[in-house]
Amino acid sequence: MTRQDETPQAVKPPTGGDAARAQGFVASLVSWRDSLLCAALMAGFAFWAHFGSDLPVFRSHVTLEKGWDEFRARNDVNDFGEDGYFVRAAQNGYNVFFFTSRYAGRFTRKTGAEPINACASCHTAEDMAYSFVNSDRFDTALGRRLSFEERVMRCFAGPMNGFIPTLYDPTVRDLRIFARTIAHHLRLSEGAQRGKS
Ligand code: HEC
Repeated sequence: MTRQDETPQAVKPPTGGDAARAQGFVASLVSWRDSLLCAALMAGFAFWAHFGSDLPVFRSHVTLEKGWDEFRARNDVNDFGEDGYFVRAAQNGYNVFFFTSRYAGRFTRKTGAEPINACASCHTAEDMAYSFVNSDRFDTALGRRLSFEERVMRCFAGPMNGFIPTLYDPTVRDLRIFARTIAHHLRLSEGAQRGKS
């Protein structure tokens, strides 16, 4: 006897009335009416998620914080377009800079209740622009080159009494883009110093 001959009866397809009923059930599942219903449900969900739900998880745009529209106008953010990845990153950088405990809460132990709870408690937005065009320089105190990102990391660890984000974290990336946006507005060139043209 070969192995094939040992196939048990149970795995053979059911026969008679049962089989007909099962086939009818399957056929009804895949009928065009059900397909249409599924498509309508999916489309309905997509429209609801996009336009109606207002749930952050379904939104790709950044939460509008107070002062952003004014900041945007004052700093020519529209030079980079009405909307897009860069503008959204700059806006997120703005949120992180001015509302750090809220938008980068996982990198700081500071809470909104403390008087100093944001980058903006100690720095101006312009500081970030000057720091950006003067970054990647040799730091005599540390004895090595320091990137803009590392400066940001140091402030999360020190003054923000928190944790160091990785280099690739959107928090760090967006603070950089925020600084770039302001540097662009101020027309700062590499190494520009405050008060000098
Ligand atoms: C409690 C005050 C304080 C807070 C809050 C603070 N910083 Fe700083 N920051 C400093 C001081 C002091 C220095 C200069 C000393 C140093 O370089 O370590 C500095 C330096 C910097 C520099 C480099 C400036 C330069 O001269 O090039 C950057 C960039 C920076 N901070 C970004 C940030 C960001 C981003 C945040 C928020 C996540 C932040 N800081 C929060 C006090 C603060």
